[in-house]
Amino acid sequence: MNITLKEGIDWVGYIDWTVRDFHGYKTESGSTYNAYLIRDEKCAVIDAVKAPFVDQYINHIRALTDLEKIDYIVCNHAEPDHSGGLPAMMAACPQAELVCNAKCKTALEKHFDTVAWKWHVVEDGDTIALGKRTLSFINTPMVHWPESMFTYVPEEKLLFSMDAFGQHYASAFRFDDEEPLDVILQEAKAYYANIVMLYGRPIAQTMARAAELDIQMIAPSHGVIWRSHIKEVFEAYQGYVVCKPAAKVVIIYASMWKSTEKMARAILEGAQECNVHAQLFDVDNTHRTRIVTDVLDAAAIAVGSPTLNNSLMPEMAAALTYLQGLRPTNKTGFAFGSYGWSKKGGASAVEKFLEEMKINILREPLRVQYVPSEEVLEECREAGRQLGKHAEQYK
Ligand code: FEO
Repeated sequence: MNITLKEGIDWVGYIDWTVRDFHGYKTESGSTYNAYLIRDEKCAVIDAVKAPFVDQYINHIRALTDLEKIDYIVCNHAEPDHSGGLPAMMAACPQAELVCNAKCKTALEKHFDTVAWKWHVVEDGDTIALGKRTLSFINTPMVHWPESMFTYVPEEKLLFSMDAFGQHYASAFRFDDEEPLDVILQEAKAYYANIVMLYGRPIAQTMARAAELDIQMIAPSHGVIWRSHIKEVFEAYQGYVVCKPAAKVVIIYASMWKSTEKMARAILEGAQECNVHAQLFDVDNTHRTRIVTDVLDAAAIAVGSPTLNNSLMPEMAAALTYLQGLRPTNKTGFAFGSYGWSKKGGASAVEKFLEEMKINILREPLRVQYVPSEEVLEECREAGRQLGKHAEQYK
C-alpha cells in the first residue's frame, strides 16, 4: 500500500473495514480515520484516530520516526473519531505541543484529561515553520463543528481538510486515482448528505476560501486522498452546498395495510410519465442514510404515511426527524397517506415536517379513508405528473 503523499509526508491512519454505524449513518462501505506525519527539521502529526485504534496509529508513526522527535500534533477537529487517540498520543510524545484553535482547546478539555498537555493555540491565518515547509491554519467553523479548521502546507500545495471532501469508505488504496471515480464521488455525496448537509452556507464560505489556495492534493480525514480528481470533487461540492436540484423525483412512504403504498406507486407511475429519474423508497426496508443521499439532489419529493395512533408510522417519524435535522434545500413536494377514522397525524403530520423543512408545497395533502379507489389513484397519478413536470425543468 502506498502511503506516501509527498516526500516526507505519509499517511499514518487506520482503515476501519467493519464499522457499519457512524452516529446513525449506516456506513456500508466502512471508513478510514486518516492521520498524517510530516517529517521536516521539525516533525508534525496531523490529526489522530478513533480511540480503539490508537495503537495501530502510534505504531505507524513509530515505524517512520522516533516519537521523541514529534514536535507538533495538530488537531483540526475535536470530534472523537479524530481526537479519541490524542490522550495516548500526547502521553507517548514527550516533546509534542498540541496545536489547535481556542474553540478546539475548550472542546478537547471537555472531552479529555488535558492537564499535562502542552498547548500551541493558533488563530486563523497563523503559521508554524517546520523547516522546508510551513503549516498554515484556516478556521472552517461548522465544517463540521464550530472549532473545525484546515491545515494547509503551501510549499506542497497540500490541504488537510478533515471532514470536508471526506468519504466513509474503507479501501486498501489511499488515493482517488486508485479507486473508481463514480464510486468515491457517490461516497462523498453520501458523506456530505448525512454529515454536513445542514451546514451548506458555511461550507460554501469555506469552499470560497479553499478556492483561493493553490491546491495539488486534498487529504481529508476519511476515505481516499484527492490528487487526480480535485476539480471533480470541488464541482460536486458546489452542487451539494445548494442541494442543486436534478431532474429527479423521490417518493418515500410507510404503509400499514398497503393503502399508502398503493398511493405511492400511483404517484410513481405519474412521475414516470415525465422525462425524469424517479425513485420509490419504503422506509421500513430502506435505511435513512440512503434516502437522505437521494433527497440531496432531488428536485421533487412526495412523502406518505398512514395515520397510526393519531401520528405517523414510527419508521417514517424517524426518517423525517433525520431528514429535517439535515435540512435539505431547493425541494418541492407534498404529503400523502391513508387514514381510518381520524385525519390527525398521517399526511397532516408529514406536511408539518415538510413545512418546517421549508419544502415548497406543491399541493394540499393527498388523503384517502381506508383504501384508495381508482379515482383516488388517478388523483395520485396526476400529482405524480405534477411532481415530474416540476423536476423536468432541471433536465
Ligand atoms: Fe469525522 Fe466530524 O467527524
